[in-house]
Amino acid sequence: MNKYNKPVILAVDDDPIILNTVLSILRNDYKIIPLTSAKSALKYLESNTADLILLDCVMPEMTGFVMFEHVLEDEKLRKIPVIFLTSASDGDNEAKALRAGAADYITKPIHSQALHTRIGNQLELLHHRKHLEKSIADKTRMLNEALNLLKTREDVTLNLLARVTELRDCDTGAHIERTTEFVKIIVRHLLQNPENGYILTPEQAEDIVKSAKLHDLGKIAIPDNVLLKQGKLTPEEFDVIKKHTEEGERLLSHTIDGAKSFQTQELSEEESVRIIYADNFLKTARDITYSHHEKWSGEGYPLGLKGAEIPLSARIIALADVYDALTSERPYKNAFSHEESASIIENDSGKHFDPHLVKIFNKYEKDFENITNNPEFTNNLALV
Ligand SMILES: [Fe+2]
Repeated sequence: MNKYNKPVILAVDDDPIILNTVLSILRNDYKIIPLTSAKSALKYLESNTADLILLDCVMPEMTGFVMFEHVLEDEKLRKIPVIFLTSASDGDNEAKALRAGAADYITKPIHSQALHTRIGNQLELLHHRKHLEKSIADKTRMLNEALNLLKTREDVTLNLLARVTELRDCDTGAHIERTTEFVKIIVRHLLQNPENGYILTPEQAEDIVKSAKLHDLGKIAIPDNVLLKQGKLTPEEFDVIKKHTEEGERLLSHTIDGAKSFQTQELSEEESVRIIYADNFLKTARDITYSHHEKWSGEGYPLGLKGAEIPLSARIIALADVYDALTSERPYKNAFSHEESASIIENDSGKHFDPHLVKIFNKYEKDFENITNNPEFTNNLALV
């Protein structure tokens, strides 16, 4: 229906007298399609549409109720308002029509005024409903565009922060990318194979993958003379390096407190949901930066957490981070081969690493090795 065309009304009744009555009452204001059976009406609707259906309840071959069921089952047709035509003496059918979801019912014999008014009401409702649906669709599209923009900005900011951390460390930009790829392998396996103590929601999995980039964020607070020292660190210097876990935790806790203060302001529901989501992400990032040097045996730092006390996210990063460190060349060591690195990780199962995660590593060893050898991940930003 548009402003140039009359609304189309499908009138379905096996009684030609009723159809003629409907035609004579409505033909000036509406385009009427008169049909004498439910089957022919359904056939018509296969390749046409209507703005409203006037439907007789009782017809031979297929009743109006059965046709109405077909209309409701069809995604394209279910929104067309259906007004049932019932006999004045048949109260049961009136009730049945309304229970089935009919927009309205009109009792025969048909009165011109009532027919006009009831059809007018339904078409007006339909017009408002379509307007509302369009408005909601437009708003939803705008909201999704805004969320996508925010998400893109968030990703760009995260990448920037991760790059800054790595450049500060004079390390290769590829370390973060490779570590993230290793984390993805483990997380994907956990999502597909949930086991007690290793169950992740898709949102948690995404948070872990995204915050893997930030695991060494605290290094930006470590003095140059220690962080950039070529050669072996003294025990005191190593203690300073270890502080990057606490510095990262401090930075992210501060950020989380800042995010909480946003929630006290007047925000729409969508904005609150977004901030709460971001908050969960920041908590995961905090867990990872704080605990990625903890060891399964309890001999790690900063807290000496043991086993499952260490957040799962940090246990995953620990394995990915160490595998990459082993297979990479550093100023103080040559790169270990994949086989040597895999053997070191295997030996440290239950000591440094979560044994369940080592099993996953063993299962996907070839994928880990392929990522290490992938030239896409070997560019050295520190040399640029
Ligand atoms: Fe670290």
